[in-house]
Amino acid sequence: MTHVLRVDPVHPDIQLIAKAADCLRAGGLVAFPTETVYGLGAHALDPDAVARVFQAKGRPANDPLIVHVATLDAARPLVADLPRTAQDLAARFWPGPLTLVLRRSPLVPDEVTAGLDTVAIRIPSHPVARALLDACGLPLAAPSANLFSRPSPTQAAHVLADLAGRIDIVVDGGPTDVGVESTVVDLTTRPPMVLRPGVVDLDALRSVIPDVGTRQAAASDADPLRAPGMMARHYSPVTPVLLFDGERDTTLARLTGAARDRIARGESVIVLAFDEDRPEFRPLHVHLVELGPEGDPPAVAARLYAALREADQAHASVILVRGISTRHPLSAAIQDRLRRAATS
Ligand code: TXA
Ligand code: MG
Repeated sequence: MTHVLRVDPVHPDIQLIAKAADCLRAGGLVAFPTETVYGLGAHALDPDAVARVFQAKGRPANDPLIVHVATLDAARPLVADLPRTAQDLAARFWPGPLTLVLRRSPLVPDEVTAGLDTVAIRIPSHPVARALLDACGLPLAAPSANLFSRPSPTQAAHVLADLAGRIDIVVDGGPTDVGVESTVVDLTTRPPMVLRPGVVDLDALRSVIPDVGTRQAAASDADPLRAPGMMARHYSPVTPVLLFDGERDTTLARLTGAARDRIARGESVIVLAFDEDRPEFRPLHVHLVELGPEGDPPAVAARLYAALREADQAHASVILVRGISTRHPLSAAIQDRLRRAATS
């Protein structure tokens, strides 16, 4: 039985938060909102609690978890050292949607790091996450609160769809803001590497660590121990997703052509459509799921995983989607998630 505790996202009820904190201290599993997506939290220093996270998600044990802490001081005992670069990034972006991979201390159980000598750490900014971290006084290991390889949850209902009956509590603080997961930066390599793009984009990172580089998902498939969660297929609906990339007009023509052909063959087709593209699909009478305006990437990011889940529920034979073609700090993160959703 999973209990749902509904709280105000800005001023969460401290009694409900205390209840969730008690559960975490006792080794239970609590899903909670962060500014990015919902996390599935467990006492990070309790190997049994951490093992339950892997069990509930069906996550392979070689995919390490992010440890969430309330303050930089709470991070110190978890790491071997806090390099200057980490302190500078923390000063600029924490609390917020940035995760830093650092050399771990012996305090962090192998279950959290999948046996790596590094640990991923972040200080979230969502008031509910912060209240929970304050109330329990623990570092919380928290992956996204979805079944392994499914789209991350941006609403409590998504958490329940995947994990009802498998976890103790969902703290429902409404929909999350950002909608895609935190940027993950590995500070243990030279140069530092972005392992997962997010709302803290490359330009923002370069303003603090000018030599930061990027790692493509495909490259890390060959090196699963460095970036275990970078496996190309991730964030996927069950229905196959076909991604059409390129300049808007020609890509849109290819996509509508493909939709028309498939419909003619009797296939059931779903199109994930930017608002601007909707008129193009009207003559096709195809089932559209809205992605929001392409000209407003933050709105698209916030909507992306809900749209993928919605499209999946139609049990169509295929989901067609056009890649985002606008340049914006979030575009790379959106495009990364679309590519992974489309990798089968
Ligand atoms: O926004 C987020 O980061 C959300 C919220 C809940 O904080 N969490 C999240 O966790 O997305 P998860 O487990 O779904 O993704 C964590 C990513 C994975 O790609 C994982 O492989 C990577 O971080 N990671 C964790 N520890 C690592 C480490 N020591 N070295 C390299 N990558 C690591
Ligand atoms: Mg995840």
